[in-house]
Amino acid sequence: MSGELSPIDKAKFVAAKRAADYVEDGMRVGLGTGSTAAWLVRCLGEMVRDEGLRFKGVPTSTRTAELARDVGIEVISLDEARWLDLTIDGADEFDGDLNLIKGGGGALLQEKIVATASDQMVVIADIGKEVETLGAFPLPVEVIPFGWQTTQAMIEETLISMDVLGRNSTLRINGEAPFVTDEGNHILDLHLSRIGNPRQLALVLNQMPGVVENGLFIDICDTVVIGFGDGRVELRDINEGTIEQDRLDFVESDNLFNDLAE
Ligand code: A5P
Repeated sequence: MSGELSPIDKAKFVAAKRAADYVEDGMRVGLGTGSTAAWLVRCLGEMVRDEGLRFKGVPTSTRTAELARDVGIEVISLDEARWLDLTIDGADEFDGDLNLIKGGGGALLQEKIVATASDQMVVIADIGKEVETLGAFPLPVEVIPFGWQTTQAMIEETLISMDVLGRNSTLRINGEAPFVTDEGNHILDLHLSRIGNPRQLALVLNQMPGVVENGLFIDICDTVVIGFGDGRVELRDINEGTIEQDRLDFVESDNLFNDLAE
């Protein structure tokens, strides 16, 4: 089955598979959202089923909650867990300081709350997500529906004085209608091209009325597990300053690929 995966999917899979090893019996674990996080949830489901792994998962979206239950993971709410040992999630971009852009899947609000309530955040990503400077990926900003066009205008006005290259934004659309997040809000995607000072931008955006949260994750991620299309993985730990290389064998997960095909 692995032959049917694209190199990017293989990269996402090996990153997720390697990161699943961080989960230990008895942990409370934040489960991210997106295609890479979906691989993680499937890998963890396999470990629950085949290896007897026992942990509680806190999903960051209704999509992830559904998948986690489907694969046999015990799901609890963040309020039940209160604090988490670990969160594993994907990212749209990460830089050398492991600052992130997230929210391409529209789940940034729950993702940031869950990651911030965790002892450790591990990001899983294919190598294509690494950037020198954040901003090529449009920055998602969650805004409340009331007066969203006014909020958009205020954001664009504020961007004039920020260290960014572009300042256009678009309302995220789902089919014909505005995209609605799990919290009932909309997403504005900011086309900035380059974010010179992500920390400052994150603070300024969150001070604006109408803005609920932005997709910049600053000083939240501890470790990135980077996957490559040939099965290699690289683990970078920002706190320890370590880089570890590994390689994964696709064959061992044939069951998981078979499950996907069903
Ligand atoms: C979801 O809202 C996002 O933050 C995702 O984690 C991010 O978009 C990465 O998604 P993929 O793993 O699908 O690339």
